[in-house]
Amino acid sequence: MENSPAGLNGPLSVREVGIRSYVVRSGRMTDMQKDALVGLYPKYGFDWEPARTLGPVDVVGRDAPFIVEIGFGMGTATVAIAEALPDVAFLGLEVHAPGVGKLLSEIEARTIANLRVCRHDAVEVVDSMLAPESVDGFHVFFPDPWPKKRHHKRRIMGADFVRLMASRLKAGGYLYYVTDWEEYAEATLETMSAEPALRNAYGRWADREAWRPVTKFEQRAINDGRPIRELKFIKR
Ligand SMILES: C[S@@+](CC[C@H](N)C(=O)[O-])C[C@H]1O[C@@H](n2cnc3c(N)ncnc32)[C@H](O)[C@@H]1O
Repeated sequence: MENSPAGLNGPLSVREVGIRSYVVRSGRMTDMQKDALVGLYPKYGFDWEPARTLGPVDVVGRDAPFIVEIGFGMGTATVAIAEALPDVAFLGLEVHAPGVGKLLSEIEARTIANLRVCRHDAVEVVDSMLAPESVDGFHVFFPDPWPKKRHHKRRIMGADFVRLMASRLKAGGYLYYVTDWEEYAEATLETMSAEPALRNAYGRWADREAWRPVTKFEQRAINDGRPIRELKFIKR
């Protein structure tokens, strides 16, 4: 089932080198998620096509600010933000099938016209399917913290991916990262600060954007007393 529908054929990653930031979980899918993945991916999804570049015209049929979200999970924040900012074109990248199915079903049910998805390794999509200086903003919300030291190399916010995203941003574009994992926040602050193409929009931690909703996941972190750390860096 995982790779059977049209548009979802092929591997989630084609890299022969480099460490992946995710493991493919065989998580259970609801019938609705499965049906959405099969039936709606052709309507709202982009295939992995490294020879092609994606931009706002592919999402909304015209030029518009273009925001790319890395690892949207179940897409709760993605949907809320796309609805809050209807004049912005959103592209969501995620490998996890139940999450992609869920987001597709929300796009259909809520008739969201400014959000499309690609189910493939975000590192490869950013590298191969986004043109340099074409993106107005990247959202990276609560990426997997890979807490064990020996797994830190799997963290998506490594220097290489930060540099790659920076290269895809237009001048003045932003990279917005949020985590509830203090040590990952500190490490990412260091990584992003060390990237010459970026500057911190704040002294240190950023303020929450008014359009970013508190998800269930985030509420649990707040209830457990973990601070939410936000970073917003601007492309020079
Ligand atoms: C901890 S979850 C957070 C999900 C969501 N952003 C949220 O705030 O609830 C991180 C997500 O990133 C996805 N992910 C990790 N590495 C990825 C990659 N290279 N390409 C696409 N998705 C990735 C995982 O599948 C997972 O769903």
